[in-house]
Amino acid sequence: MTTNVEETLVLVKPDGVARGLTGEILRRIEAKGYSLVDVRLVQADRDLLAEHYAEHLGKPFYEPLVDFMESGPIVAFRVAGNRVIEGFRSLAGTTDPTTAAPGTIRGDLARDWGLNVQQNLVHGSDSPETARRELALWFD
Ligand code: RTP
Ligand code: MG
Repeated sequence: MTTNVEETLVLVKPDGVARGLTGEILRRIEAKGYSLVDVRLVQADRDLLAEHYAEHLGKPFYEPLVDFMESGPIVAFRVAGNRVIEGFRSLAGTTDPTTAAPGTIRGDLARDWGLNVQQNLVHGSDSPETARRELALWFD
């Protein structure tokens, strides 16, 4: 195995902050052995969210998603570790919290509330290019 130390952006979305799960989510990241490099509490505006979710512009869930992400504070983590991009996605679980595997953040702590957007507690960058772009957006 070759070493592949990376950094990723993790967001605790407004549902996670409102439910007081920021500490539990960080606990799972640290328990896995990843390192916290930086942290910010952010009230995101639409410009930031439009850049962050540019790939989803025009999809039916785009507007409700941006409204949800604007609805309260978000906690941003810069997290480092070998293969952390893939590793955090695995800790988070799949997008739909109802079917996300037990043992994952979404599988254990999130559910479908019957609202018009999936409130699934966390975001994690999905590739090295995305991680670079998103970290610059949320931390620089
Ligand atoms: P994320 O970007 O937040 O880490 O989540 P993800 O990769 O698992 O999901 P993605 O496909 O990138 O979608 C971004 C967020 O949009 C909401 N979403 N709702 N069909 C739907 O109702 C739907 N699809 C996506 C979720 O909040 C998802 O995390
Ligand atoms: Mg995504």
